Amino acid sequence: MRIVLLGAPGAGKGTQAKKLVDKYKIPQISTGDLLRAAVAAGTALGKEAKACMDKGELVSDSIVLGMVEERLKQDDCKNGFILDGFPRNTSQAEALDKMLASLNMPLTCALSVDVPFEDLMKRLTGRRTCKACGQMFNVYFNPSTKGNSCDKCNGELFQRDDDKEETIKKRLEVYNAQTAPLFDYYGKKGILKSVSGTGSIDEIFSNVCKVLGL
Ligand code: AP5
Ligand code: MG
Repeated sequence: MRIVLLGAPGAGKGTQAKKLVDKYKIPQISTGDLLRAAVAAGTALGKEAKACMDKGELVSDSIVLGMVEERLKQDDCKNGFILDGFPRNTSQAEALDKMLASLNMPLTCALSVDVPFEDLMKRLTGRRTCKACGQMFNVYFNPSTKGNSCDKCNGELFQRDDDKEETIKKRLEVYNAQTAPLFDYYGKKGILKSVSGTGSIDEIFSNVCKVLGL
């Protein structure tokens, strides 16, 4: 299984990717998580990335492609991977195809998680993430039973810097303009599949597994 998860900010890409990781033991490669780790580490790359992320804009292709290439070459990707939040525009998709051709591991599927636009704002403003294990919760839809601590590991929950209403609006605009064309890109390659991202997380996961033939 070598898949790309497509979907708007807040559609549940990370939530579904984590369930695939738990069940099928293949790694999730989230460029957002990799970038946030670089920001937290205070590297030069992290500082450059943070300026774009805080505005809701895309980080430069060169930064993201370098990170992804390095990650895909690691041993744990040999049995498959889930790309979450990458590619984000057509030039990243073309670069990914080249990278994967040279590694002899072409994509098996681009799976889109579809959620109506009007639901996304509440999902994003309500999101809380565990600092320790990365598990996502939502104060409106799936709160942790331990308040501001993680249900899974007791870690502290935090709100992402880019989950502010103004930044979310910009992220959604950027998604429509730059990422939505990827539906066409993968549709033409004949590997595009989709699931509804509305309903319970477990229901959606069961459909994800069905669509992926798992
Ligand atoms: P990134 O981290 O990729 O963010 P995103 O694409 O905006 O997506 P999100 O992580 O916000 O949403 P998600 O679909 O993962 O939803 P989640 O599962 O958390 O990117 C952040 C920034 O980094 C970008 O803006 C850009 O600057 C930069 N960047 C990243 N990749 C890049 C790239 N390739 N190129 C250039 N720049 C890049 O769920 C959301 C919430 O909903 C949670 O609270 C969750 O609990 C809840 N939820 C999930 N499922 C359900 C459900 N079924 N019902 C109700 N609530 C639900
Ligand atoms: Mg995510």
